[in-house]
Amino acid sequence: MPRRPLIAGNWKMNGLGEDGARLAGALRELMTAAPDAPFDMMVAPPFTLIGRVAEILSGSGIELGGQDCHGEASGAHTGDISAPMLADLGCRYVIVGHSERRTGHGDTDALVRAKARAGLDAGLTAIVCIGETEAERDGGKTLDVVAQQLGQSLPPGADGANTVIAYEPVWAIGTGRTPTGEEVRDVHDFIRARLVDTLGGDEAGMTRILYGGSMKPGNAAEFLKLADVDGGLIGGASLEAEDFWAIAQGLPLAISSVPD
Ligand code: PGA
Repeated sequence: MPRRPLIAGNWKMNGLGEDGARLAGALRELMTAAPDAPFDMMVAPPFTLIGRVAEILSGSGIELGGQDCHGEASGAHTGDISAPMLADLGCRYVIVGHSERRTGHGDTDALVRAKARAGLDAGLTAIVCIGETEAERDGGKTLDVVAQQLGQSLPPGADGANTVIAYEPVWAIGTGRTPTGEEVRDVHDFIRARLVDTLGGDEAGMTRILYGGSMKPGNAAEFLKLADVDGGLIGGASLEAEDFWAIAQGLPLAISSVPD
């Protein structure tokens, strides 16, 4: 079964009510004009905007995700948001293990795994982020780091339907710098092979592996054409509806290239 590409937008800590409403409204219009778009689209607004954006995107086919969740379903965790709360707001996805959580909030592989598991328990699809720092790449450790994060962040029960992997080199996030297509291909091939070892061939073959890190309309096609790149996790460029949409056009089978 071919993997259906996923174009995922991570809005991070950006936007007040009107900004989110405008962006969601613009995306809704684009998606409505392309009812047979051959990809899934998801946006992860800040928690404060999810409810409002959910109303605007309702019935549009664009799914919602959380940017993080707690590892437990409820309890005395001031300031945290649980996976069932995200599901209750209409989310279908939750991003876990983003490098900004790993470095800024001390999210370890074990914690990322607990968060991913909480997401699965709530019926969400977990987007598990992994990726090396610049020093690790320069030190020739990229595949070791990716293998360790993948091995230790994937929750028990992960499969091709409930889990998405996002490969995001830390040094490419928000910097305007990206790996070459060849470098991305090598890491994605490696991740696929590791998934075959851990999940088995069938589930590994169904698991979507996204690339993330300074993806823009101008460079998206170079990555999205690769056989083991099944979409993108987009930060900065997801804050402009036209740019986010244009990135999806980089897919080999994107709507602009599908014959009538
Ligand atoms: P960027 O962020 O596209 O702004 O580099 C990607 C991400 O952090 O998911």
